Amino acid sequence: MMQVAPSILSADFGILNEEVKAICDGGCDLVHVDVMDGHFVPNLTIGPVVVKSVAKASSKPLDIHLMVENNTFFVDLFAPLNPKYISFHIEEEKHPHRLIQKIRDLGISPAITLNPHTPPETIEFLLEDLDMVLLMSVNPGFGGQKFIPHVLERAKRLKALIEKRNPSCLIEVDGGVNDKNIEQLKDAGVDIVVAGSYVYGSDDYGQAIKSLQI
Ligand code: DX5
Ligand code: ZN
Repeated sequence: MMQVAPSILSADFGILNEEVKAICDGGCDLVHVDVMDGHFVPNLTIGPVVVKSVAKASSKPLDIHLMVENNTFFVDLFAPLNPKYISFHIEEEKHPHRLIQKIRDLGISPAITLNPHTPPETIEFLLEDLDMVLLMSVNPGFGGQKFIPHVLERAKRLKALIEKRNPSCLIEVDGGVNDKNIEQLKDAGVDIVVAGSYVYGSDDYGQAIKSLQI
């Protein structure tokens, strides 16, 4: 079944703990946390002080998506919160192989994120060391953007590489996911979807999450 990781970026930050509890009670599989530094992307979100409180409120594992310039610094900041995944952007890392080992040594599942323009072949020789690849289906930085359909072709190409190099590596897609594109994502071989505005913009979070768990 498709796993669902609601992005708290679209939550009401005035009542963040309740918003986190609500998606966990609603049956989500992971809690997706978008960390932006105002440099790699033109937006700024939350740091370890706030994410610590999110981790406390959450009964589900955290999926931390770094959108930052200095990956190693941020990995060290968030590792003590014991997330399940930490993903970093390949476009911003000179030594991805080294950073993957570092994340694994910290007891966290390493993942790499690809921007919409980055071909999956770029990371072919990293796949055997990864637990997950995150494909962006919008440009990183903001929730509520329109789904870029060529992620479906990228997911299929990535799936073929994964089957060759490391069949246990999962594919996650992030951006503009909703009940209209979920079937295509499933057919393309995607294992986990991130959904921010679709879940938090609905009246019933549990129902929205279930509609994606196909
Ligand atoms: C964008 C973030 C996403 C975003 C998804 O940079 O990585 O996780 O919150 O939001 P929606 O689902 O609204 O596109
Ligand atoms: Zn994200």
